[in-house]
Formats: sequence, C-alpha cells, structure tokens
Amino acid sequence: MNVMDKSIERVMLSEEQIAKRVKEVAAQLDRLYEGRRPLVVCILKGSVVFFADLIRHMTTPLELDFMAVSSYGAGTESTGRLKVTKDLTTDIAGRDVLIVEDIIDSGNTLYNLKKMLISRAPASVNIVTLLDKPERREAPMEPEYTCFVIEDEFVVGYGMDYAEEYRNLPYIGVLKRSVYEK
Ligand code: IMP
Ligand code: MG
Repeated sequence: MNVMDKSIERVMLSEEQIAKRVKEVAAQLDRLYEGRRPLVVCILKGSVVFFADLIRHMTTPLELDFMAVSSYGAGTESTGRLKVTKDLTTDIAGRDVLIVEDIIDSGNTLYNLKKMLISRAPASVNIVTLLDKPERREAPMEPEYTCFVIEDEFVVGYGMDYAEEYRNLPYIGVLKRSVYEK
C-alpha cells in the first residue's frame, strides 16, 4: 500500500474493470464514426488518462485537440457560466466533434460547453464520459456514451483529483472523508 492508497476508503472500479469497459466503448465509437474522421477533444485535466486509453483502443482515423474549461456560478445558479482557460486550436466548422469528459456531475460544465461548440457550426457533437452521477444533475445534459453510472460519492484516480492530487492513481477510488474534512 502506497501513500495515496492510504487515503482511499474503497476501490470503486479496478484497473481491469476500467480497461474492459473502455475497450467496449471504443468499439461503439468506431462503429459510430465509421468512414469519418472525428476530432476527439480531451477536456483537461481530469480526462487525460481516460482519453489516452480510449483513443488507443479506437481504430478510426481521428484527430486530437485539447481544451480546459471551468464553470463558475455553478451550484447556486444552475445555468453556470463557462470559463474557457484553454481553447481548441482546430476550426471545428463542419467537423464531427467527440468530447471526452471524466465525470458529469451537475452537468453545468458540459451543458454550457456543448452550447458554445454548437455555435461554431460543427457537423456533430457527441459526448463520451467515463463516469456519470445522474443523481446530482442540474442541467439537462445526457451524454451519448457513458462507461459507468455511479452513486453520489466523491471519487479520485484515473485522472480525477482532489485538490490536484490522486490523478495518477491507476484505479478509481472513493476518497476517505477524513481527507477532505480535516
Ligand atoms: P459539473 O458536471 O459541471 O458539475 O462538473 C463536473 C466536473 O466536476 C468534473 O469534470 C470534475 O472535474 C468535477 N467532479 C465532479 N465530481 C467529481 C468527483 O467525484 N471527483 C473528482 N472530480 C469531480
Ligand atoms: Mg473535469
């Protein structure tokens, strides 16, 4: 047990469980984009590990881009405004865009992001998320592809953080309450 493992209450999804499911979803996306050349967008930073695994399981010729966003006003205002801290470098007009997200919680971030991207006239926008916490939803946001639906618990690992820590844990774990209540 390493120093990070000690902060984990329980393993929610093991490396093996994640790998198996990511492969299945990659195959679904290959079928969806057959004969096309999608622009696959990694939403930094939390999606980076999922993104790296997902694209390597896809066999469709594709392009990559990266974006960093945060929503503020979320929580109290369910509309939450979007702050883009790093924008795409690709012109998405007429492109098939696939957004890769780590977790959908209130849904405010992706709701606003999808709206903004649609205003740039892409051919299509789809969302694939590693995790979905539907109980917490505030915005009308349903991802087209979901790897795992989870209960309302705070999770870390496989790219996801608490105060920028735990992103490099290879599995997804529930953080001990003592870590964020101290
Ligand atoms: P929302 O859907 O706008 O509420 O925002 C989702 C974002 O909140 C995700 O992209 C994560 O960065 C963060 N987030 C939500 N739940 C968790 C969690 O359980 N662990 C780590 N980050 C989370
Ligand atoms: Mg995120």
